[in-house]
Order: sequence, then structure tokens, then C-alpha cells
Amino acid sequence: MTNGRLTIVAIAVLGIGASAFAREQSGASARAAASAPLGIGRAATPDEIRKLDIDVRPDGRGLPAGKGTAREGAAIYAQKCASCHGRNGEGATFDRLVATDSGKNFDFAMNAKLPRAVGNYWPYATTLYDYTYRAMPFLQPGTLTPDETYAVVAYILSLNKVIAEDAVMDQASLPQVKMPARDRFVIDNRRGGKVVK
Ligand code: HEC
Repeated sequence: MTNGRLTIVAIAVLGIGASAFAREQSGASARAAASAPLGIGRAATPDEIRKLDIDVRPDGRGLPAGKGTAREGAAIYAQKCASCHGRNGEGATFDRLVATDSGKNFDFAMNAKLPRAVGNYWPYATTLYDYTYRAMPFLQPGTLTPDETYAVVAYILSLNKVIAEDAVMDQASLPQVKMPARDRFVIDNRRGGKVVK
């Protein structure tokens, strides 16, 4: 809008002799406006986009190349995670990461004392990769390499007795891990009612 008004003013002021120049200018500003709607900033480079484009979906799409085992992850965990989450994932100053009991019938709604953690509540192992890679360690997010992330994820899954200690976690194997709580979550496919977003 602002651009359009400015262009009209420019044509009026510059007069007929300068109108070709003004048309040229208005073409250039239209092109700039198309690539930057607010007329500020610049387009992100592919490299900048790659650094931010780290989401991993439940089916594993977005997982990077790399691999790790629980044995490798144990050392990383002790150094970078245990201070907040406990030596064995039992929780310390912050969240517990290990729990295998989900009650007789997934009783979380009835029993507030039942702790929710990766092993008894999370439906997808891939989410553990996504979350750890983007958000942990809490004070240095983004510092783990993909190999370190696969290793520490493998360690947490093995503490939760979801995978064996020597299982290799990578792009192909992690999405195949079936979490104990997987079937407790269903996609809400009801139609016709009020849509709540
Ligand atoms: C300085 C303390 C600190 C350190 C170190 C730390 N975390 Fe955390 N972690 C947190 C906090 C705080 C939360 C909760 C964040 C929130 O709810 O927004 C959390 C949450 C988590 C959760 C989600 C738990 C759940 O069930 O909701 C996982 C998984 C996790 N951290 C993994 C790790 C791993 C793996 C490491 C080491 C690489 C690590 N954390 C290091 C503080 C820490």
C-alpha cells in the first residue's frame, strides 16, 4: 500500500520526462515488495533455513544421518543431563525421564501420583530425538550433534526398558521403536461438531 502511494506521488512530481524512470523504479519496488512484504530484511539463505529446519515428525521424517547406542549415550548423559534429571533418569531438580508403570489401565487421569515420563507416557520415540536435539541440555540447547543425540536417546530408551542396551539408533531404527504407550493415543477423527483448535 505504502509503496503504491509513493510511486504515484513520484510520477506526479517527476513529470512526463521522468515517467520512464519512475516506471522502472516502480517495477523494482514491486519486485522488492513481492520478496519482502514489509520492505525490510532479506530472504533467508538455504544454509540459514537448514539450521532451523530441524523438526522430526512422529514417522521419523526429518531425522538426520547419524547413529548411537545406549553405551555411548551413558557417558554423555552422565556429563550433560544427570545433574538435572538424576543419575538414572529418576528425576532430580527437573523432570523424571524414566518410568515403566502406567497403572492398571493407563490411570493418569485418575491417579495424580502416577508419574508421566518417556517410558510410560510418550507415544513416539522420534519425539524424544526432536525434543532433545532442539531443547536440551536446558542451558545449552542446540549443542548436541546428531550422533550424540541418537546415543543419549538410545540411553534413555534403554533405561526405560524399551530397547536393548546395544541397539543402534539411527534414521531407520528409531521410527521402528514402538513405545509402550503408543496405542493409548488415537487421532481424533470425529467430524461434524464444533472444531476446537
Ligand atoms: C540445567 C538442567 C537441565 C539439564 C542439564 C538437562 N535438562 Fe532436560 N529438562 C530440563 C527442564 C527444566 C525440563 C522441562 C522443560 C519444560 O517443561 O519446558 C527438561 C525436560 C526434558 C525432557 C522432557 C521430559 C518430559 O517428559 O516432559 C527430556 C526428554 C529431557 N529434558 C532430556 C534431557 C537430556 C537428554 C539432557 C542431556 C543432553 C537434558 N535433558 C539436560 C532441565 C535440564
